[in-house]
Amino acid sequence: MRTHEQTVRQQFDPRATAYLSSAVHASGPDLAHASALVRKTAAGAGQALDVGCGAGHLAFALAPHLERIVALDPSPGMLSAVASGATERGASRIEVRQGSAEALPFADASFNLVCTRYSAHHWRRLEAAVRDMCRVLAPGGHALIIDTLGAEDALTDTHMQAIELLRDVSHVRNRSVDEWRSLLRSAGLTALEHREWPTRLEFSSWVARMRTPADRVAAIRGLQEAAPREVKEALAIEADGSFTIRTGLFWLRKA
Ligand SMILES: C[S@@+](CC[C@H](N)C(=O)[O-])C[C@H]1O[C@@H](n2cnc3c(N)ncnc32)[C@H](O)[C@@H]1O
Repeated sequence: MRTHEQTVRQQFDPRATAYLSSAVHASGPDLAHASALVRKTAAGAGQALDVGCGAGHLAFALAPHLERIVALDPSPGMLSAVASGATERGASRIEVRQGSAEALPFADASFNLVCTRYSAHHWRRLEAAVRDMCRVLAPGGHALIIDTLGAEDALTDTHMQAIELLRDVSHVRNRSVDEWRSLLRSAGLTALEHREWPTRLEFSSWVARMRTPADRVAAIRGLQEAAPREVKEALAIEADGSFTIRTGLFWLRKA
């Protein structure tokens, strides 16, 4: 019987190349906005940590504005994709480190910026992870959280989370904006800015990236077809199964 941590490794380790070339991950308005925020605020002086770096797109985007960025992930496959991507880009400011969000292997106040993108919905103990991100952040430092959002409407949310879990068994939960706000406030982070964008998930590449087995792809399609009109409209479900969720960005500061 596998633990959640083993499931995460099993899901992501063999898929690093797919994430490196994924259009959803390699670009997007959230990435451009994150880069602009860090350029304006940290201005070349910072030590940063990217938690759940995956194939490294956030770390690659922010590295030019930082002194050093540590890209952390539990998956060795992802870390070697980041290391080779960094070499190709000549990005010597990127270091890789294996580890999990819930137990960051760094001393208190080690970083001026702690960030994460499209990873937190896989974390089993999100509260503990956010507390640990806050612990390794220096006073006055910035936190940048980007993730797919849960829906405020319970019916839509249940369908969305079920579809996500069928596609990827390492999915835990897309948190709503309200859940994030209260979690981040409790961790002692002050909100500076919040932005949201629609993120369209093209169905065939979305399931191919995770190599979702055919029976689960069929279950997702069945769920989408049987969904009530409110859910079809809220998720903008298209004839081929493509649908649209929201990406949220939270820009915060530690007192
Ligand atoms: C979709 S990828 C991340 C994408 C990447 N940050 C980007 O900007 O393109 C999700 C990553 O989260 C990592 N992950 C899952 N659970 C984690 C945890 N508990 N702590 C840290 N990383 C985790 C996975 O190994 C995977 O590489």
